[in-house]
Formats: sequence, C-alpha cells, structure tokens
Amino acid sequence: MLVALLGATAAQAGEKRDLIIDSDPGADDVVALLLALASPEELNVLAITTVAGNVRLDKTSRNARLAREWAGREEVPVYAGAPKPLVRTPIYAEDIHGREGLPGVTVHEPSKALADGSAVDYLIRTLNNAPPHSITLALLGPETNLALALIQAPEITRGIKEVVIMGGAHFNGGNITPVAEFNMFADPHAAQVVLASGVKLTYLPLDVTHKILTSESRLKQIDALNNQAGKLVSDILNEYIKADMVQYGLPGGPVHDASVIAYLLKPELFSGRQVNVAIDSREGLTFGQTVVDWYDTLKHDKNALWIENGDAQGFFDLLTERLGRLK
Ligand code: BDR
Ligand code: CA
Repeated sequence: MLVALLGATAAQAGEKRDLIIDSDPGADDVVALLLALASPEELNVLAITTVAGNVRLDKTSRNARLAREWAGREEVPVYAGAPKPLVRTPIYAEDIHGREGLPGVTVHEPSKALADGSAVDYLIRTLNNAPPHSITLALLGPETNLALALIQAPEITRGIKEVVIMGGAHFNGGNITPVAEFNMFADPHAAQVVLASGVKLTYLPLDVTHKILTSESRLKQIDALNNQAGKLVSDILNEYIKADMVQYGLPGGPVHDASVIAYLLKPELFSGRQVNVAIDSREGLTFGQTVVDWYDTLKHDKNALWIENGDAQGFFDLLTERLGRLK
C-alpha cells in the first residue's frame, strides 16, 4: 500500500534539520540549492559538497559557489570532492545542462573561494564528530563522495540520520539509457556502496520527478516574484526544460533535484512505499538500472523508501514562496 507522508513539517515540529547537500550543479541542482538556502528556519545547511557529474568538478564547484552567492549565503562552506566515479569512465550531461552546467544564465567566477580540504575528508570528520544519527545528507548527483567516505570510514554511518537521494527509475524508465537514470548510471558502484551501508535511505526517482512538471503558469509565478532569484530560476528553467519536453513529449519539464529539498521541507507533499532496491553495476544493457521490488516478490529486506508520487502544484507553490524570500 502507498504510504502518504503526513509527518508534521520540521518547522511545525520546531526543529531544524542539520543538512549536508552533495551536488553536481547542474540546472536543477542550483534550483535545489536556492530552495534549501532560502529555508533557514527548517534547514541548517552545514556545507555543500560537490562532485563531478553534469559537468566537470571545477565547474560544478563554481556553480555551487554561484548558488550560495545568489542566495546571499556565503557563510555556507563549499568543499570540492571526487573528480571522477569510483570505477567507470566519467560521463557528463552537457547536452542537457550546457557547457558551463548552467543553461539560460551567464556565469562568473564567484568572489568567495572553496573551503580548504576535500569533501570526502569533510564528510568523515563531520559525521564522526556529530551526535548519533543527527545529520541528514541530500545527494543530488552521482554518489561518489559518500561512497568514498563510507569505504574509508564505515563508522560514519553512526552520525547519519538519513540520506535522501535524487536518483533511479522504476515505473518511468530511464533518462540516460532505456532503464537507467543519470545519477545512478554515472556511478552505479558508488550507489551500491550507499545501498549496502544500512543507513535510512529515501529515493526521489524519475517516477516522481517526471510528475512534477513546469507549466507556463508555474514559471510565470516564479518570474513574477521580480527579484534576482526568481529571474535566475525562470531563466534557467525556461532553457533547461526544453530537451526533456522534446525527448519525452511532456507538457513541461522536471526540476528533479529540487524535489529532494521539497521532500525535506514538506514530506506531506509526497507518497511512496518501503521496498527493496538493488542496482545493476555489471557491464551490459541494464548497467545503472535500479531494480525495485515494488510488490515484495523476493521478500528481501526493505532497504529504502521509494517515492512514487508528489503534489506538483504544492511543489511549485513552495518553491515560489521560498524564492520570494531571497534577494
Ligand atoms: C539527475 O541527473 C542530473 O542531470 C540532474 O541534475 C539530476 O540530478 C536527473 O536524472
Ligand atoms: Ca544533479
């Protein structure tokens, strides 16, 4: 049976969530970062860690610093992490995100530099020093950084409250092969390490992100904010959605990664099911495919919450309202 997620919002419960966002910005990653950084009442963003994915690491790291600059949150440190996946040859998504990884806007070198040290060391240090089960991780790109941290220091799981991941596809089919979603395909071996870690996992796969689509009126409501953040997001999205609308014949485009942040802010907008998830990391046609036992056929341990549905208008109302809080 589908579980509607009716938990009180974090703000209602009066508690702030300590959050590390691991990301490969990326158009939808930047929207996710702006949404998170505009929500300090619920989310205490400890750091942004970057990984190669949509574009090379130097560009994802610059784009993460741009997002924090645009959000007026330069106190949030950005640590650069893995420049390539654990095992496979690197792939990028410049066809979707543009050469700079940010379509529709002009990029510049942000004034504030990266934090010293690597993202993987930061994750190990921070999770080892944290109270038990206190830190949430939002993974918005290939899962290489967390996998490396888990391999080097498996005890870090103690500091983790939960990991919320944009990745995978079951009912929807893939977006980089017929069955694989980009983040999983870009580093399936890393995804396997995270899946085996035993921490609480939630996936927001293409099954849900392809149901939360832009429309003319949703983009207009963002543009009508008339502030810098609204203008940036509407410029980015107007360009970013084009390829997906053509490829899938959709009436609007998905904003994948921002759904992870929306889920953390308002889980009641989403529903899903506890399932067993595995990933195929063998060479071949199904490389990177998430195998989801939706009907519990194998009776294996249920290792993840698989989000399958979401309130699209609720998502865009939340995004618009939060972007309205930025300059
Ligand atoms: C995922 O792949 C990337 O291109 C996006 O940023 C998102 O994280 C969607 O499949
Ligand atoms: Ca991403």
